[in-house]
Amino acid sequence: MLGANFKRQFDAETYEKFFAGMGYEKTGYEIVCGRMSCDVAVIEVRKNQGKIVEKIIKAERMILRPVQESDLEAVHEYAGDKEITMMMFLPNETKEETEKFIGDSIADWKNENPHDREFVIVYEGKVIGGIDLENCGDGTFEIGWIVNKKYRGLGIASEAASALVDYGFKELGAKKIIAHCDSKNKASEKVMVKIGMKLKDDKETRVYPKTGVVSGEYLYELENNREKHGEN
Ligand SMILES: CC(C)(COP(=O)(O)OP(=O)(O)OC[C@H]1O[C@@H](n2cnc3c(N)ncnc32)[C@H](O)[C@@H]1OP(=O)(O)O)[C@@H](O)C(=O)NCCC(=O)NCCS
Repeated sequence: MLGANFKRQFDAETYEKFFAGMGYEKTGYEIVCGRMSCDVAVIEVRKNQGKIVEKIIKAERMILRPVQESDLEAVHEYAGDKEITMMMFLPNETKEETEKFIGDSIADWKNENPHDREFVIVYEGKVIGGIDLENCGDGTFEIGWIVNKKYRGLGIASEAASALVDYGFKELGAKKIIAHCDSKNKASEKVMVKIGMKLKDDKETRVYPKTGVVSGEYLYELENNREKHGEN
């Protein structure tokens, strides 16, 4: 079970086991830094002293890691799900659309300051969802999530979102994290509430580009109060 033996004080051996468990080859990787806060670990891995090639967030039952090419089938399973009706650019009609999304995300991850950090949620060794943090400027980041329907209702999105919010505040210096949802999207709204976000605006509308359907939209926000309390 990945991460089951994680300790608060990590050593090289623990890291090596962790990455080996995820299928990484030890050769060529140099672990340069690891930090643990609450139950969230942020691990940076550099390849041959080069740029950071992986950014992994460890939560209680899952890890979040940047999306990669080999995730195509798993990502398309949820991104191409025709039952998704309340996400602006989904469902993807074709695997090529999902492939392009993954390619664009990987390209963005190569930037020193990625605009949209797209993570996949890995649970029980499987990619079962996606979660992202998009930099909106002025210290504001927007979070978004999706979970494969086979794994909904298990608290996956809430746990992943909580870990990513922690990462945004502590590692990216976010001042505020926001999220939008369709006013009918009760599951998504519940995730926002569960991670402590507050409703800021319930008067907006949105238009879905693929269908032209108009719906109500909520804006939720979470401010980085930890900054004020000196916890960062
Ligand atoms: C939104 C989504 C990511 C939630 O994922 P999840 O892992 O099931 O979320 P969680 O289990 O952490 O929490 C969902 C909560 O919503 C509740 N919920 C689900 N459907 C609900 C409904 N129709 N009405 C009220 N509450 C509902 C669940 O009971 C749960 O609350 P609980 O833990 O108090 O029981 C998932 O439903 C999804 O992928 N939807 C399609 C994509 C999408 O709409 N993304 C969001 C775009 S803004």
